[in-house]
Amino acid sequence: MPAIAVVGAQFGDEGKGKVSHYLAQRAHMVVRTQGGNNAGHTVVVGGRIFRVHIVPSGVLYPNCRSVIGNGVVVDPAVLLQEIDYLRSEGVDTSRLILSDRAHLIMPYHRLLDGLDEDRRGLRRIGTTRRGIGPAYMDKNARLGIRVADLMDPEGFREQVEENIAIKNDLLQKVYGQEPLSASEIYEEYMGYADRLRPFVADTSRIVNDAIDAGERVLFEGAQGSLLDVDHGTYPYVTSSHPIAGGVTIGSGVGPTKISTVLGVLKAYTSRVGDGPFPTELHDAVGDGIRERGKEYGTTTGRPRRIGWVDGVMLRYAARINGLTHIAVNSIDVLAGLDTVKIAVAYDLDGRRIEDFPAHLRDLARMKPIYEDFPGWDESITTAQSRTDLPPAVERYIRRLEEIAGAKAALLSVGREHGQTIPIEDLYEHANV
Ligand code: IMO
Ligand code: MG
Repeated sequence: MPAIAVVGAQFGDEGKGKVSHYLAQRAHMVVRTQGGNNAGHTVVVGGRIFRVHIVPSGVLYPNCRSVIGNGVVVDPAVLLQEIDYLRSEGVDTSRLILSDRAHLIMPYHRLLDGLDEDRRGLRRIGTTRRGIGPAYMDKNARLGIRVADLMDPEGFREQVEENIAIKNDLLQKVYGQEPLSASEIYEEYMGYADRLRPFVADTSRIVNDAIDAGERVLFEGAQGSLLDVDHGTYPYVTSSHPIAGGVTIGSGVGPTKISTVLGVLKAYTSRVGDGPFPTELHDAVGDGIRERGKEYGTTTGRPRRIGWVDGVMLRYAARINGLTHIAVNSIDVLAGLDTVKIAVAYDLDGRRIEDFPAHLRDLARMKPIYEDFPGWDESITTAQSRTDLPPAVERYIRRLEEIAGAKAALLSVGREHGQTIPIEDLYEHANV
């Protein structure tokens, strides 16, 4: 049975964790393929809130295997803390599998992430300072250290020494910092190696075997399409590929095995960190959405910037991901507004622009052209089916489907697992 990819259609924080967890109840395996603990995925089940950053949300189901794929950058300290946290909450983590090819986030990556942000000053990216960018830099510079390397103490020591020599030059000569000690880092990471060893495997083999055996496999995206290093609002992006193409690279599964790409979006837009945001609201409407939607970063606690849905972005996300379906989250948060808006194009000096531009200077000059929709006052948090929704909500969802050119498979009317309205059975769709 071909697999389902869940991707963010906006700037991250679209509710991929909730959607992945919802779909994981029938999955045999949930796989993360990119990013690292910059992600913050919240799952609310029976009033209990689980927050995961690196472990796939499928871990909450005893029958589901969770895989951290080769494309993920792994901070072993954070991963082990998360395993401990989940165990303390009574979650069985024994079915977690970690790719031997995943790259490690090292202490100098975290340090350099912060130093680089500070050096950029006003031009900072607003990263999560988790070392994600520097870890991918080293991966591409062919200096990275992988999980398989960590399992080989002698080789690992040499790699740490080689890296520390280079990083200490940078830390001391460029940033005026104290040097790091290779032996301290080596000792620290050897401690992690022993604890991680039972989880390590060739995950491409495992995921492909699962798909070939007819298991239901779900890929849980992190970040969002507009944060993609190639397709996002560069340079205000993350350093990986959150789009559907990143799934195959980050898992070692061919594109022919993915039949269904679910784009997750909120009924509005949020962005945490710097960078362009054409439909951003700087008024009481935006503030109200932030409060009602509890729009504060799961990873960093930062207040998120809020705006309307940007249809230009949504069409673009549909194209670069090949979306087959969408999931619309946080619809309940919009209740009580007189008018709800969707940007359907941009205006540039009187010209109508339909395609998302490459250059941020152009983007900054574009004014969203909005379509207005009547709001709704009814609380929809107990809606069980699409037909329970007020006509104004239905009209709004239908326009989002039109813009995306994809049917809504799931709607979300609250944070709880149960506040999810299934419309399409994605596993049936995948079963072709
Ligand atoms: P989830 O999976 C929202 C943003 C950061 C910053 C930019 C680069 O919860 O949707 P990085 O630390 O990745 O180098 O930061 O990307 N960012 C996210 N924004 N949700 C996320 O993940 C994000 N992960 C990174 O705020 O703007
Ligand atoms: Mg998040």
